[in-house]
Amino acid sequence: MPTILAIESSCDDTGAAILKDSRLRANVVNTQKIHEQYGGVVPELAGRAHQSAIVPVVQAALRQAGIDNMASLSAIAATQGPGLMGSLLVGWNFARGLAQALNIPLVGVNHLEAHVCAHFIENPDMPLPFVSLLVSGGHTQLSLVHSPTDIRLLGHSADDAAGEAFDKAAKVLGLPYPGGPLIDKLAEGGNPHAYSFPRPRVPGLNYSFSGLKTHFLYFVRDHLAANPQFVNDNMADICASYRHAIVSYLLDGLSRAAAQTGVKAIGISGGVAANRHLRREAQRIAEERGLSLHIPDFAYCTDNAAMIAQAGAFKWAAGQYAGPEAVPYARAGQQS
Ligand code: KG4
Ligand code: ZN
Repeated sequence: MPTILAIESSCDDTGAAILKDSRLRANVVNTQKIHEQYGGVVPELAGRAHQSAIVPVVQAALRQAGIDNMASLSAIAATQGPGLMGSLLVGWNFARGLAQALNIPLVGVNHLEAHVCAHFIENPDMPLPFVSLLVSGGHTQLSLVHSPTDIRLLGHSADDAAGEAFDKAAKVLGLPYPGGPLIDKLAEGGNPHAYSFPRPRVPGLNYSFSGLKTHFLYFVRDHLAANPQFVNDNMADICASYRHAIVSYLLDGLSRAAAQTGVKAIGISGGVAANRHLRREAQRIAEERGLSLHIPDFAYCTDNAAMIAQAGAFKWAAGQYAGPEAVPYARAGQQS
C-alpha cells in the first residue's frame, strides 16, 4: 500500500497530510489569519501566505507521520483546482517539483471531489451509492456518488455558495469574518419563524443564493431605517430565521435528490456541515425517510489535505496520474 503526501492550497488554508497503508498518519492545516481584517479572502495575500507556509506545513506533516526520509513516499497528491489560481500554483508547483525530484507520480485532485471523499477517511465502508451535499464557503453542490472515482454532479449553485450567503449576511449584521459560525451560535437562542425569507426558484436540483443575500440586505436596511436598534434588539431572531431559510432550502434539494435517485444514504460535507440547525434537521429528515446520514469529522469538513490524500489514494490506485502537461485550473469543469 502506498505512502501518499498530499497538499492543499486552493484558498486560504495551507494543508499537508500523509496517508500510509490506507490510514491517515498526519493532517496539518495552517489557516491564514491575514484575511480577517479585510472581511474576505484577498487572493494576492493568499498566494503569498501559501508561499511562506508550505515548507513548514509539509515538514510538520512528515514529522507527525514519523517520516524522516522522503524516499519512502510513493506519490504526491495536490489540489489541481478549482480555486484561486495564485494559491493553487504554489501547492501544485511545490508538489510537481518534489515528485520530479523523488521520481514518483504526481496525482492531481479536484478539490470538490476531495470534499466528497472526506466521507471515506474515517468510514471506508461508506454505503454506496449515496447522495452528497457539499456546502462550503466556495461551493454548494449535490452529487450522486457511485464510487470515490465515479461522482456525478446532480446540481450546483448558479451564483454564491451557502457559506458565502452566511458570511455576507454576517457582514451586514456587523459580525466579523467568517460569520457563518457566529450566525449559527447567535441563532440558537432565536425563533426561526420570526421573519420569513423567499426561497429562490431555480430549475432541477440547482441552487441560487444571490437573491436571498440581496433580500437580506434590504430587509436589514429597511428595518434599521424604522428602528436604529433593530439589529441589536432582534439579533437572535434574525440569525435564526435566516439560518432556517438557508438550511431548509439546502435540505429540500438534498431530500429531492435522495428521492429521485432512490439512495439509502446521504452525506453532508464542507465547512457549513458544522451548522447545528443543518445537522439536526438533516438527522430528522433522514430518520423520517429511513436514510442513513453521514457527516465527516469537522477537521475533514473544512479545507484540509487529509481529504486530498484520500481522493489522491483512490486516483493513485486507479493509475490516474497527472501528465507533464497538467496545470492547475481555477474553475470547476476546466480540468484537462
Ligand atoms: O469548507 P470551508 O472551510 O471553505 C471552503 O472550502 O470554502 O468552509 C468555510 C465556510 C465559511 O463560509 C463559514 O462561514 C462556513 O463554512 N461555516 C459555517 C459554520 N461553520 C463554518 N456556516 C454556518 N454555520 C456554521 N456553523
Ligand atoms: Zn473547500
